Amino acid sequence: MTEVISNEEVAPGVFRLAVAGQFDGKMGQFYMIRAWDNYPLLSRPLSIFDITPGRIEFLYLVVGEGTTAFSKLKQGDQVKLDGPFGNGFEAPEGKTAFIGGGIGIAPFYYALRQVPSADVYLGFSREPYMVEEFRAASAGQTHVNVGGVILDDLDFEDYDTIIACGPHPMLHAVQRKQQASSGRAKVYVSLENRMACGVGACLVCSVKCKDKRKKACTDGPVFPAEEVVFE
Ligand SMILES: Cc1cc2nc3c(=O)[nH]c(=O)nc-3n(C[C@H](O)[C@H](O)[C@H](O)COP(=O)(O)OP(=O)(O)OC[C@H]3O[C@@H](n4cnc5c(N)ncnc54)[C@H](O)[C@@H]3O)c2cc1C
Ligand code: FES
Repeated sequence: MTEVISNEEVAPGVFRLAVAGQFDGKMGQFYMIRAWDNYPLLSRPLSIFDITPGRIEFLYLVVGEGTTAFSKLKQGDQVKLDGPFGNGFEAPEGKTAFIGGGIGIAPFYYALRQVPSADVYLGFSREPYMVEEFRAASAGQTHVNVGGVILDDLDFEDYDTIIACGPHPMLHAVQRKQQASSGRAKVYVSLENRMACGVGACLVCSVKCKDKRKKACTDGPVFPAEEVVFE
């Protein structure tokens, strides 16, 4: 068990949770987290938002039972973290864009601190959050779109590597935009499928891919965009 340092609401229903301890992880990987003993049964997956000496941070949106329990955590409370899990982002090559839709921005702060030259595109349907933190971490451009379509703000031809995380309709649109482009950019999507075990044992996170079904937790959550069959 590890101790909560802080749990701050940064926008309505969006919290930034800091937990004490020495943690590691590649950009794009996630941890399975629980803040309870027996119920709900399952831990919940959250992407690494940041790791610094002595702490790990997560940025999460309250959607149901587990994240509501997280939102009530106070300094000194105990949480259990398992991880890091998943394949994460490969070191991007060439000119890079990170695209985050809503809470899908979460993995890109840690990624940006390792690839500060990347341009970052943050799309929000309502109130934006963490924008100043992203600007401060970035040596590239930070684009913010509120209420529109973040994908309209970039041209795939301008980039060598593009990594996107967000709701499935957005990721499907990323795939279509890749198909309509010249194909210069390597394009990846990070899927936030529902998970139960996080370690490849239960098949809850199954993803339909062109060749066969894969597991978001161990084969992903990051996949080449052209591999995924969006339904
Ligand atoms: C690899 C990975 C990384 C993630 N990183 C983050 C992150 O950094 N920040 C964050 O806020 N969320 C992240 N998520 C999503 C997060 O895990 C879910 O929102 C959380 O598990 C919901 O738990 P709950 O108990 O609050 O909701 P539940 O009570 O289980 O469900 C409430 C509602 O949310 C929906 N829901 C549950 N899980 C998901 C999901 N994975 N995707 C979409 N809808 C879901 C349900 O269908 C239901 O409508 C990530 C998911 C994965 C797989
Ligand atoms: S969450 Fe259990 S196999 Fe992926």
